[in-house]
This record gives sequence, C-alpha cells and structure tokens, in this order.
Amino acid sequence: MDGDSFARPPPGAAGGAAKKAGEMRSRTHVAAMLKLLFIGDIVGRPGREVVAERLPKLRAERSIDFVIANAENAAAGAGITGALAKSILENGVDAITLGDHVWDQRGWENEIGQMERVCRPANLPKSNPGWDHLVIEARGFRLAVFTVLGRSFMNLKADCPFLAADRMIEQLRPQADAIIVEMHGEATSEKQALGWHLDGRVTAVVGTHTHVPTADACILPKGTAFICDVGMTGPYASVLGREVKPVVARFLDGMPRRFEVATEDVRLSGALVEIGASMARAEKIELLTVRR
Ligand SMILES: [Fe+2]
Ligand SMILES: [Fe+2]
Repeated sequence: MDGDSFARPPPGAAGGAAKKAGEMRSRTHVAAMLKLLFIGDIVGRPGREVVAERLPKLRAERSIDFVIANAENAAAGAGITGALAKSILENGVDAITLGDHVWDQRGWENEIGQMERVCRPANLPKSNPGWDHLVIEARGFRLAVFTVLGRSFMNLKADCPFLAADRMIEQLRPQADAIIVEMHGEATSEKQALGWHLDGRVTAVVGTHTHVPTADACILPKGTAFICDVGMTGPYASVLGREVKPVVARFLDGMPRRFEVATEDVRLSGALVEIGASMARAEKIELLTVRR
C-alpha cells in the first residue's frame, strides 16, 4: 500500500516517539476512518497458506490500513522462526505478535532481536529478548500494539497483565495515535476484566490464544472495541488446529501422542476494527472469517 511505513521504537527508549513532535503530521491529513484487521493465531502450514492466498486480495478489497497477526503457532503449530516470520510479513501482515508459545522454536530467541516487525508479550520478564511493542503507520496515523499474557490457566512466567497494560499505555501514549492491546489468555473472565479495565484508554482489546472465535464483539461504553477471542487462522476440522483422533484418544486413555497440525476446513479468522481518526475511538468491530 502506498505511503505505508513502519516506525520502530528506538531500543530501550521508554516513551520514545516514532516521530519527533515537530515532525508529527496534522490529523487533518489523516483519513477520517482507518481499518485494522487483527488476525488470530496462525497455525502451521495451513494457516500460513490461507494468509498468503487470501490476505493480499482481502486487504485491497476491504481497504484495510493495518494488519496485525498473532503467529505464535506458525511453525508446525508451535512457535515461529525468522524465515516464517519474514514470509508472513511479505504476504500482507504489517506486525506479528506472539503468545505463550513464543519460545517453542529453538534458536528463535537469537533471531527475534533482529525482527523489526515482531514483538513478544510485554509482560514477560524484562530480560526476555525482542520488542515488547510495535508502532506501525499508515496514512499518517500511528498505531501501537502490544500483547499481554493472561495468568489464569497459563504456564509462562508473566507479570500482572493489568499493571503491565497500564505501564505500556503510559509509555506509548506520546508516540501513537491509537493503541491496540492483545490479551492472550485462556479465561474469558480475565479477558473481559481487562477490556473493562482499559475501556476508554485504548482503541481495542482483542483476545487470542483459545483458537475459538467468540460471538461477543462489541464497543464498550467508553469507546474501546472488545472481543474475547478472534479465533485461529488454520484448520477448523480439528481440536484447536490439531488432528482430531490423537487428541480424542489422549483424552480417553491419557497416553502421550504426537499431535500433528490438521489440514481440513482452513479459515482465516480475525477482527475487523474501524477506527475514527480524530478521537482514535473504535467505531465498529466485527468478526471476519475467510474460508480457503
Ligand atoms: Fe495459539
Ligand atoms: Fe497461546
């Protein structure tokens, strides 16, 4: 898309602006409405392929300004690699986020630091490598995104997502026109609570991780778009993206098995959010499903 650019924050610069104040463009040059597509967890080759096949056209047809995708399951269902991240970014994704599977692929911890359009969850320990947020820009509008991991029924060591989100919002406010928060968690209660906690302070709180889209997309009273889970981008004839048989068998007898990524009923799933540029308020949110 013409004029789109990516603004990377300077390393370690808390509150560092993507552009200096004097360079900031007037909002009068910004289109009245911007569209964001937030794509849920890309699972394995089927997920990557449906993005490659459908996203470029979808982006043009729906006049989408920003595409953010969680790709924590891109590599055979577990984690991501540098090569896969690059190919996803080449297929129309502007920014990649990650979740609890962030460190599943060996060596990724050495690659993530060089990936300018990939960020890891913001509430991981500070010593973890990788950006804790990204700022992307289209048509003079700067959109910041960060992910927080939930702590209910989640195993990764993470700080309080509520306090982490508060801290990140304070840091990002001077360098972005709008802020998108991804809540990567298992419990709908924790996700809803974060949505209410952030209502009016960010443009959207979108849930990921469960791989199951929810029917609760709404605009909260103070203008924040919310959805518990945008669903996965991958094979839906599956259990959360994996072949059905071994998962069912494991539930029956408790024996360990290999869970291969399934192949059928592949869909791209995400939330389409319309953002009013003047107030950075969410005007509309809908679940978007594209079948392969
Ligand atoms: Fe996932
Ligand atoms: Fe996850």
